[in-house]
Amino acid sequence: MKTQITELFGIEHPIIQGGMHFVGLAELAAAVSNAGGLGIITGLTQRTPELLAQEIHRCREMTDKPFGVNLTFLPTVTSPDYPGYIRAIIEGGVKVVETAGNNPQKWLPGLHDAGVKVIHKCTSVRHSLKAEAIGCDAVSVDGFECGGHPGEDDIPNFILLPRAADELKIPFVASGGMADGRSLVAALALGAQGINMGTRFIATKEAPVHEKVKQAIVAASELDTRLVMRPLRNTERVLHNAAVDRLLQKERTLGANLKFEDIIDEVAGVYPRIMQNGDMDAGAWSCGMVAGLIHDVPTVKELIDRIMQQAHAIITQRLAGMAGG
Ligand SMILES: Cc1cc2nc3c(=O)[nH]c(=O)nc-3n(C[C@H](O)[C@H](O)[C@H](O)COP(=O)(O)O)c2cc1C
Repeated sequence: MKTQITELFGIEHPIIQGGMHFVGLAELAAAVSNAGGLGIITGLTQRTPELLAQEIHRCREMTDKPFGVNLTFLPTVTSPDYPGYIRAIIEGGVKVVETAGNNPQKWLPGLHDAGVKVIHKCTSVRHSLKAEAIGCDAVSVDGFECGGHPGEDDIPNFILLPRAADELKIPFVASGGMADGRSLVAALALGAQGINMGTRFIATKEAPVHEKVKQAIVAASELDTRLVMRPLRNTERVLHNAAVDRLLQKERTLGANLKFEDIIDEVAGVYPRIMQNGDMDAGAWSCGMVAGLIHDVPTVKELIDRIMQQAHAIITQRLAGMAGG
């Protein structure tokens, strides 16, 4: 399939794997890229720029296709070594960066000078327009359904995507709630040039996470996510578990007095314990409502081939038949 996104990134299928903390390692990124999509290594999961450089090298040994790196700009006081991470990306020959969180404007000239394309993840039309205005090459429009941080506007993709299509000139992909060929065709119909998936890619054979994480996603329905940290205006969609119940109880009890320190046990440093050790109640971890559409753990290639076959069948048979009739 050819879209502005496949052309921009030099990939075969308009499917991107979004950055995911302690999931987006070289194994998954390479598997997605080898299957014709765009795999993304999660920059900050690597504790230092040197470790990111090694991860990029490891990925390069597993694929000769394009892959990207996610850089999440956190609202923290002590900032990670972003200049170092960007150096590792450029020196590693990576040609795509997925930015998320704060405005990436400061880093764009350096990345563009090195021939790196930037796709910024946004949860609103106004942030998407800002990304376009500062010179991003594309946007990943993340609806309220998404796993991770959906922002504070709560606009689902059925509204957000056509709104983005009406306003944006640069290409965008639909992110949040995407799982199969139906999602892809719907996203294209609403004006996107492809899809970005997070949760769906965790439940694949190559995702380098504990088997219990994959099975938790398969077992979950669309009713099993919760929004946490809303009182801190740092809303995150996570899978319901015992730690999330504790966290929500604190939010109810403390109300407007809630501080990050109050919930540190449930949110800080929990990803390695969950993703690597399978300690499923260790804390709150991002998961999308799309879990309700995930029923198996295929290989990444099986998943991507299936999405593309289903999308083609919907377009050429179901929709063409309706239009013809
Ligand atoms: C476990 C997990 C960890 C994530 N970590 C990050 C991250 O570190 N940086 C980021 O920009 N997005 C992160 N995301 C968001 C994804 O990149 C993607 O935007 C989102 O999962 C899309 O929604 P979906 O899960 O419905 O497909 C994470 C998502 C999940 C499920």
